[in-house]
Amino acid sequence: MKVRKALFPAAGLGTRFLPATKAIPKEMLPLVDKPLIQYCVEEAIASAIEEVIIITGMGKTAIEDHFDTSFQLEAVLAEKGKDDLLKVVKDVSNLVHFSYTRQKEAKGLGHAVLCGKNLIGHEPFAVFLGDDIISADVPCMKQMIDVYNDKGCSILAVKRVPREDVSSYGIIKGRQVEDRLYEVHDLVEKPPVDEAPSDLAIIGRYILMPEIFEFIEKTPPGRGGELQLTDAIKALLSLQPVYALEFEGERFDAGDKLGFIKANIAFALQREDLGKDIAKYLQQLKIDQT
Ligand code: G1P
Repeated sequence: MKVRKALFPAAGLGTRFLPATKAIPKEMLPLVDKPLIQYCVEEAIASAIEEVIIITGMGKTAIEDHFDTSFQLEAVLAEKGKDDLLKVVKDVSNLVHFSYTRQKEAKGLGHAVLCGKNLIGHEPFAVFLGDDIISADVPCMKQMIDVYNDKGCSILAVKRVPREDVSSYGIIKGRQVEDRLYEVHDLVEKPPVDEAPSDLAIIGRYILMPEIFEFIEKTPPGRGGELQLTDAIKALLSLQPVYALEFEGERFDAGDKLGFIKANIAFALQREDLGKDIAKYLQQLKIDQT
């Protein structure tokens, strides 16, 4: 069965970006001039996803407004003859079909995914974590769907990380079966450095089989007292194989201040209208932090 639907957990409080995120969702922070979440939605569409399901919470209505039609804004732009901007604004609301449901309690990523159970139904689905922004020639999710179409089971996106960073990620233990592809044998959520089974870290893109929901329901709270998706995927291994793809492309952790700023610089440098000026500005800065 094709991967048609994508889940976007977006109920987190965004405390790492306070005070910026006091009144606006972290998913709406701009990377140059587009909200973070739109990059992921565009990646989903470029990977042939047909339906986007966003798991929201309190204070997240700006996300719904962003992907909706804004009659007032469109009318003003039309009246002023700002056709380019009018197209940008209209295109956003015509991207794909959106559904929303709420995560009423912050009980972890596994719980957030479980909130999408009814909207997903019994079919494989993609999960996008909006903090992870990936710049790639072939969209990361498309690379994963290509592997899914061959293997027909859950696929995780992974990247090698420096050993000292393993405790910030879900880490897999796997056996390499093809170039960049691993059969997953074990997973640990945020292990201490000396207990990590490898340096292959799960990045925020997953393709999951619908059976994952039964396993999430049975999974007890794990690291941090939260219901961890990583633990549920580990349990799923008792029923089905799971593969991990070391995808091609650059990943930015936009949920972290340094990663967010790096992503802004990298994306601005890629832009036709800004790239040259930003490069010139960066060269002019005589930074000495040593
Ligand atoms: C989540 C997952 C973790 C994964 C990470 C990727 O953690 O629980 O397994 O490696 O996303 O970004 P979080 O960063 O939300 O704490």
